[in-house]
Amino acid sequence: PLVSMRQLLDHAAEHSYGLPAFNVNNLEQVQAIMEAAQETGSPVIMQGSAGARKYAGEAYLRHLILAALETHPDIPVVMHQDHGASPAICIQAIRSGFSSVMMDGSLLEDAKTPSSFDYNVATTRKVVEMAHAVGVSVEGELGCLGSLETGHGEAEDGHGAEGVLSHDQLLTDPNEAAEFVRATGVDALAIAIGTSHGAYKFTRPPTGAVLRIDRIKEIHARIPNTHLVMHGSSSVPQDWLAIINEFGGDMGSTYGVPVEEIVEGIRHGVRKVNIDTDLRMASTGAIRRHLAKDGKNFDPRKYLVEAKNAMKAICKARFEAFGCAGQA
Ligand code: G3H
Ligand code: 13P
Ligand code: NA
Ligand code: ZN
Repeated sequence: PLVSMRQLLDHAAEHSYGLPAFNVNNLEQVQAIMEAAQETGSPVIMQGSAGARKYAGEAYLRHLILAALETHPDIPVVMHQDHGASPAICIQAIRSGFSSVMMDGSLLEDAKTPSSFDYNVATTRKVVEMAHAVGVSVEGELGCLGSLETGHGEAEDGHGAEGVLSHDQLLTDPNEAAEFVRATGVDALAIAIGTSHGAYKFTRPPTGAVLRIDRIKEIHARIPNTHLVMHGSSSVPQDWLAIINEFGGDMGSTYGVPVEEIVEGIRHGVRKVNIDTDLRMASTGAIRRHLAKDGKNFDPRKYLVEAKNAMKAICKARFEAFGCAGQA
């Protein structure tokens, strides 16, 4: 059944586990996630970005999720709008049947320019009022997540934020988090604690902690009833990176967030873990390998099923590592 994010994250908090939230754009991603959930007995969060709705079209995206619900009637599923840039986008998602929306007021409507705290509060509160009236959950975001650098590496756009603000200024401030939650009433809060979006998070293999677990603890202590969300949580699988490059790809050397560190974050209050890049890499690697090895094949189903199975294996591994397996 379709459930609200609040319902699922409350259950996760009560039973001390975390939920991966996978981005979806197409049939194979939805099938990969649902088959992995079915086989591990896990509840599901699928999220569509504004880019996903542009790519697939709102109706196709909605019907893909409806097909997942019909095919797997026993699995609780949250249909979440990822990174809504304005109240209008959130309202469109609610009308489309999403059971949860993210109002990302940490940026202005251009989804690029950092906003003020007051803008973020006012915009997010407006969405909470409307969404809660119809039983839809809301995720907000506070902090400078997209451009956060933790000491090495660059953001995907090549513009490291270093030199503009210190690392501590980019991290979510626990006092501001408490004030933000009090003023907005959000169900979940995305926090900046050392991650960034995309494949190019860290240029060197993580040797120590890349996540600021200390900051997660401080924030969780201030807002124990608000579910913490970690964006940019792909682990950037080195095996798939090697396969992509072996079969004609040209991805640079790069590292993500180790799964053990995410698990440590979950121990200290993280409940929703956003993953997109890992599934993109697995599907691209599987397709590149198939096409390179079987030059005669021109049936897309043959390489798309390999992409699906590659994504499914990662989904199962995350459901298991995050303690989600068996909780559906
Ligand atoms: O946070 C961003 C997600 O990875 C979605 O990316 O906007 O390319 O769909 P997208
Ligand atoms: P990754 O790019 O690390 O997969 O993060 C995805 C994300 O945070 C979507 O909101
Ligand atoms: Na989100
Ligand atoms: Zn994100």
